[in-house]
Amino acid sequence: MILCVVLGLLAVAYGQTLTSSAIQKMDNNSLFERWRPYSHFAAPAGWMNDPCGPLYDPNGKLYHMHYQWHPNHVGWGNISWGHAVSRDMITWSDVDHFPTDQVRAWSGYQAQSLGTTNLTSNHHTPEKYNFLGIFSGTAQPVNLSGGADGTLLAFYTSVSRLPTSWDAAYLKGTESQSLAYSTDGGITWTEYSGNPVISQPPTGWNITGFRDPFFHDSPELDAMLNYTEPHYYAIFGSGIGDVGPRIPLYTAPSSNLTRWTYLGALWEPKGNTSLGRPYEVGNWGWNFEVPNFFNLGGHWFFSAGAQGASRSYHEQTWVVWNEANVSVRPNGSIAFEPLSMGASDWGNLYAITSFNDTKNNRRIQIGWAPEDMDSFGVVQQGYQGALSIPRELFVMNTPNVMPPSPMRNSSSVYTRQGNGTYSARTLGARPAPDVITGLRGGSQAMNHTVGTLSGKGKGPRSQMLMKAMKSSYEISFTIKSTSGRTGLTIGAAPDFQEFTSIYYDPATSSIACDRKKSSTISEFLNTTYVGFFEPYNVSGTLEPIRLDVFVDGSLVEIFVNDRFALTSRIYPSRTDSTGLGLYAAMGVDVVYSGPVQVWNGLKNVWPQRPRNSSGLLVWDTDAETHNRTWWTGF
Ligand SMILES: *[C@@H]1O[C@H](CO)[C@@H](O)[C@H](O)[C@H]1NC(C)=O
Ligand SMILES: *[C@@H]1O[C@H](CO)[C@@H](O)[C@H](O)[C@H]1NC(C)=O
Ligand SMILES: *[C@@H]1O[C@H](CO)[C@@H](O)[C@H](O)[C@H]1NC(C)=O
Ligand SMILES: *[C@@H]1O[C@H](CO)[C@@H](O)[C@H](O)[C@H]1NC(C)=O
Ligand SMILES: *[C@@H]1O[C@H](CO)[C@@H](O)[C@H](O)[C@H]1NC(C)=O
Ligand SMILES: *[C@@H]1O[C@H](CO)[C@@H](O)[C@H](O)[C@H]1NC(C)=O
Ligand SMILES: *[C@@H]1O[C@H](CO)[C@@H](O)[C@H](O)[C@H]1NC(C)=O
Ligand SMILES: *[C@@H]1O[C@H](CO)[C@@H](O)[C@H](O)[C@H]1NC(C)=O
Ligand SMILES: *[C@@H]1O[C@H](CO)[C@@H](O)[C@H](O)[C@H]1NC(C)=O
Ligand SMILES: *[C@@H]1O[C@H](CO)[C@@H](O)[C@H](O)[C@H]1NC(C)=O
Ligand SMILES: *[C@@H]1O[C@H](CO)[C@@H](O)[C@H](O)[C@H]1NC(C)=O
Ligand SMILES: *[C@@H]1O[C@H](CO)[C@@H](O)[C@H](O)[C@H]1NC(C)=O
Repeated sequence: MILCVVLGLLAVAYGQTLTSSAIQKMDNNSLFERWRPYSHFAAPAGWMNDPCGPLYDPNGKLYHMHYQWHPNHVGWGNISWGHAVSRDMITWSDVDHFPTDQVRAWSGYQAQSLGTTNLTSNHHTPEKYNFLGIFSGTAQPVNLSGGADGTLLAFYTSVSRLPTSWDAAYLKGTESQSLAYSTDGGITWTEYSGNPVISQPPTGWNITGFRDPFFHDSPELDAMLNYTEPHYYAIFGSGIGDVGPRIPLYTAPSSNLTRWTYLGALWEPKGNTSLGRPYEVGNWGWNFEVPNFFNLGGHWFFSAGAQGASRSYHEQTWVVWNEANVSVRPNGSIAFEPLSMGASDWGNLYAITSFNDTKNNRRIQIGWAPEDMDSFGVVQQGYQGALSIPRELFVMNTPNVMPPSPMRNSSSVYTRQGNGTYSARTLGARPAPDVITGLRGGSQAMNHTVGTLSGKGKGPRSQMLMKAMKSSYEISFTIKSTSGRTGLTIGAAPDFQEFTSIYYDPATSSIACDRKKSSTISEFLNTTYVGFFEPYNVSGTLEPIRLDVFVDGSLVEIFVNDRFALTSRIYPSRTDSTGLGLYAAMGVDVVYSGPVQVWNGLKNVWPQRPRNSSGLLVWDTDAETHNRTWWTGF
């Protein structure tokens, strides 16, 4: 009894409602566990951004994931690669890169695989090619001559001048492309002695950026180019100032992955343009980042972050994908002709990349989920950033679909069949089923039978299912039909002082995450993320809408019908803002199909870390940050 009271008091003290002024007075790392996603990939502490070098190593039978990291800081700077491994992409462990020093893998700099160095290149400019940053890139389980001897090879952008931004004058020589490899399964990494392997962007380009190598072999491109020797292909995120974004394509013979030759730009979009209506398909912007180019089931796809796009329909930087016809130009370069276009994620997920999961013969996509704290309380939180749940990409074909009338460019390619009907083809993306099964392991699974919600919808209070959800859960249900806005309410306080609404709106063909009331802390972003989603008309009936939502601390990931994703963040100030319910706007009738399924308490995917894996936070000196021109220093 007394113990209960004491525990109760502790819970109150720990869980007290936060205010802006209270947060400002708190010590570094004191909010470390408050909104932390434990069921997602994240750095042990500090700042992280893009996923880097994801691969499956058949030799060590491990998945490797690296990420842009600034240990001991909560802001971007001196950017390096952090590193973790997994047997199944469900649970992860930090790689200890200094295994003999007795420091735990999750602590300090231990998980850093590649950091900035003062190495000089002996036959190339720039001098000290990577001393200001190890930017993003990809990796393959091969050695420098393409052999599968257990070597892991990383291709990344080495940075020797800063700052850099697509909309500022480009400092010549800022970015070059370099290789590093590991012959001990990823524990120690060596810079290739001939770095950088590409020291200049394509001749004559007035570039806005030149980074993020995405490289792999491609028997399909070898065949198109009549190469008898297998080759690797690399693309880079780039753009030409005042002209448009660009994707330069390079190739190297597999037998020598240091010898890269420029093959031309994949295509030459004008700046700030799109294939269709921007609010339906996104925009290519002015500079591409973290580009992907791959063949999936016989179809060619490209995806990238698009910096500088007009923001009239979208608060964040777009991440777009295209399906395209790919052919060979008379001069031997590769031409990419877009057929369809969409957003890879309609929320704030960025730097979305993918890799061939050769263990399961599928393409897995993963992106960076930034915070949405507007830099407020980040020192108290002690970290920023996580990665999305791994998503399986697939070519999604839907038969008997009525195309839009008049026909227009969209996220689907409509093909007329012999019997006069159309089939729609688009890029499908769903949370990897095996990973989801793993995350649900140990959760409390519940079915709520609802059937209908009718007429007297009371907005966020429509039908509360549970008051006290754990910090991590999944909810999934199918809307068979609706007469208006409907979806769910998460993060709801008992008196609805705080709540977040996620809904489908048939009137505007959209899915929204409305954060107006998500937190009483006004510094945290309260904008509504909206994404275009139009259900297919299949044989005269609108397809049902299946919502699959993951809530994990502040991180919210929304999936719809295996072809729509929206990532968001919420930071409720109250510890009792844990209610979950169904939502229907006033007067709206909803019919559900099947039960509302809930998995409460998803797996902690970092079993070897303590709940609080925070570290020391330091401020860099003026000298270290070049008077705050290279990075801010926090
Ligand atoms: C930047 O990172 C490198 C590699 O971890 C480290 O050696 C160097 O001291 C760091 N510089 C600053 C200013 O923190
Ligand atoms: C590079 O040299 C500078 C100046 O000597 C030093 O401050 C910095 O820490 C060095 N960086 C690395 C990564 O060793
Ligand atoms: C790469 O691996 C192959 C074996 O698959 C080996 O024959 C070759 O010597 C290795 N090359 C290098 C550069 O290590
Ligand atoms: C590849 O070979 C085919 C058949 O000989 C030829 O038509 C085509 O032009 C060649 N393509 C290139 C890029 O050389
Ligand atoms: C290069 O692009 C910038 C915009 O990024 C523009 O201001 C500048 O005039 C361009 N320079 C040349 C030589 O075209
Ligand atoms: C690989 O290519 C580089 C750059 O062209 C060259 O210096 C090197 O000699 C080549 N290596 C082999 C083994 O041919
Ligand atoms: C993955 O790569 C293998 C060759 O290593 C290829 O056969 C397979 O089609 C690729 N899978 C996907 C989904 O791209
Ligand atoms: C029309 O043909 C397509 C392709 O064979 C098939 O998938 C679809 O079911 C057919 N539709 C009807 C109404 O028969
Ligand atoms: C919930 O319903 C689904 C589908 O009807 C069923 O497969 C599952 O076993 C049920 N789960 C629980 C916990 O009852
Ligand atoms: C959202 O936040 C902004 C900035 O703090 C504030 O001006 C606005 O009133 C907020 N909106 C709502 C609905 O609370
Ligand atoms: C808190 O973090 C800042 C860096 O943002 C650092 O300068 C300061 O020393 C830290 N305070 C303590 C007590 O560690
Ligand atoms: C930084 O500012 C100080 C004081 O204004 C100046 O003496 C120093 O040269 C500056 N350093 C750099 C790298 O710009």
